[in-house]
Amino acid sequence: MKRALTPGTFDPVTSGHLDVITRAAQLVDEVVVAVAASPKKNPLFTLEERTELVRQATAHLPNVRVEPFDELLVTFARKMDATVVVKGLRAITDFEYEFQMTAINYQLSPALETLFIMSPPQYMYLSSSVVREVASLHGDLEQFVPPCVKEALERKFAATATNG
Ligand code: COA
Repeated sequence: MKRALTPGTFDPVTSGHLDVITRAAQLVDEVVVAVAASPKKNPLFTLEERTELVRQATAHLPNVRVEPFDELLVTFARKMDATVVVKGLRAITDFEYEFQMTAINYQLSPALETLFIMSPPQYMYLSSSVVREVASLHGDLEQFVPPCVKEALERKFAATATNG
């Protein structure tokens, strides 16, 4: 049984994340989407909300499950019995940061491999913060996020819509 982790903060999960998760699910027996607490990022959605949104967005993928975590990624990977981490790589700007994280994870746990899947052009510049920005200004979210996330964002920012 080959199990992969696809980690992230997912604040919120985007179509770009779903592309990575879907493609990872075709490569291994099981994918565990690891939703990080990431308190330093001061997320818009709570850990429970983020986890639930990823669960809804991946419900159609039979070999994907979603788990929250609040510890080192390598520790969580060991607990989940995962041997590979799969991450998306977008523009070249991602590279240095991802390179650093992969190097640290490798030193902490050399048996844990990290694989990168290149984002397709339409998701190259998509990020959760761009999605939050568009949502806060009541822009059209359709092409950036799955329907459940669109609804959740519209609910979050509904108050500011009515106030002006
Ligand atoms: N498509 C769209 N957007 C993507 C994407 C993709 N394929 N891949 C990454 N992104 C975006 C995210 O939306 C997010 O956007 P934002 O910063 O504008 O909100 C950004 O890239 C960063 O993604 P995030 O989900 O926060 O992941 P990360 O790369 O910063 O890493 C963890 C998060 C959970 C993997 C990492 O913090 C971690 O491992 N934490 C556990 C603690 C630990 O082990 N630390 C030591 C590691 S060095």
